[in-house]
Amino acid sequence: MKKIGILGSTGSIGTQALEIIRKNPTRFSVTALTCGRNFERLAEQIVFFNPQVVCVELEEDALTLQKKFPRLEVLWGEKGLIEVAEKADCDLLLNALVGMRGLAPTYAGIRAGKNIALANKETLVAGGEIVMEAVKEKGATFLPVDSEHSAIFQALEGNRDQEIRKILLTASGGPFRGYSYDQLKQVTVEQALKHPNWSMGSKITIDSATMMNKGLEVIEAHWLFSAEAEKIQVVVHKESIIHSMVEYMDHSILAQLGQPDMEIPISYAFTYPDRLKNDLCGVNFFALGTLSFEPVDTSVFRCLDMAYLALKYGGSYPVVLNAANEILVQQFLEKKISFIEIQNTIERILDDHEPVYNLELLEILEIDKEIRERFEKWD
Ligand SMILES: NC(=O)c1ccc[n+]([C@@H]2O[C@H](COP(=O)([O-])OP(=O)(O)OC[C@H]3O[C@@H](n4cnc5c(N)ncnc54)[C@H](OP(=O)(O)O)[C@@H]3O)[C@@H](O)[C@H]2O)c1
Repeated sequence: MKKIGILGSTGSIGTQALEIIRKNPTRFSVTALTCGRNFERLAEQIVFFNPQVVCVELEEDALTLQKKFPRLEVLWGEKGLIEVAEKADCDLLLNALVGMRGLAPTYAGIRAGKNIALANKETLVAGGEIVMEAVKEKGATFLPVDSEHSAIFQALEGNRDQEIRKILLTASGGPFRGYSYDQLKQVTVEQALKHPNWSMGSKITIDSATMMNKGLEVIEAHWLFSAEAEKIQVVVHKESIIHSMVEYMDHSILAQLGQPDMEIPISYAFTYPDRLKNDLCGVNFFALGTLSFEPVDTSVFRCLDMAYLALKYGGSYPVVLNAANEILVQQFLEKKISFIEIQNTIERILDDHEPVYNLELLEILEIDKEIRERFEKWD
């Protein structure tokens, strides 16, 4: 029986992970769950999965939960998340938080000896260097949950010592694939939230529409697989059947294919190196007929190049890229800015940024806070 803790259990990844656990009660148990403000949903999860410790964002919600479940350990706030990551009794901690708030708990969990399954890509975008150093130092198992990175991880199995020519990171292209810059200026929140292939939380869905998601994934791939930026190529593959590929020195390419369903990469992280049976359909190649591939139009979707540049210049650039993106996506979702302002504003902020290097965790968190405060002043 594998004991699983989930940070962000009420979100898209968190609930899919719990569904896998629900379907496999003899394989997994749940020891820790956390949410932001959706504590009613967390309460349902507590009743069903019976964890030992939970955490919510607000103290008042923690008090409400504590009254309802007097024997349960109920924590709250950022400190609570870190405490769960450090102390939860689990064989694997799934980080399914959204955004930069995932970094400190991931780091704390690794330092406390936890094995991590990581969905929260912002952790590696902002803190890749210190996180991967901690993974090495502690000998932690660190498993990717993002479907592309899970695919790369799988394509590398048995070939870890082989020289790779490139990583081919596939992208659906999002709902606005093929749009011109002028068309992008007109798009609405409702249109941007309609992803053609995946059903996900709102932040990553908007990131997919701007293509920033692919930029964040390039940075994530760099840290996970020690791959230089020049060796990571993004390929638009609108069917989302090939989840990514690795090309080796002999020009052989290994890929992982499957239906676009996060059950597969989440399960793989839960049972690695084994695989878990599921009720999904396989890929029907005859029904598909063709698979298509095209480059990203970076003259329209500027975020991808910005992420490559942030990775190339390093230091605080990716922290700033990530913070600005999180704030602007939120402002777009609240209909305060237009879609195109997301990429245009990030570009301006990166241009003005004076980088700092060799960052420790507290410095990363401080830079992130500074960017957020700067936006608050503009608001
Ligand atoms: N969804 C996917 O298919 C997918 C695929 C690949 C990678 N990812 C990555 O996985 C991560 C999670 O994505 P998602 O789509 O599952 O996000 P989501 O649906 O928005 O869920 C986010 C989780 O974080 C919690 N949370 C939000 N604000 C919080 C706060 N201030 N304090 C504590 N917890 C907070 C949420 O709790 P509440 O419910 O209470 O708000 C929820 O449990 C992201 O980094 C994303 O890029 C997602």
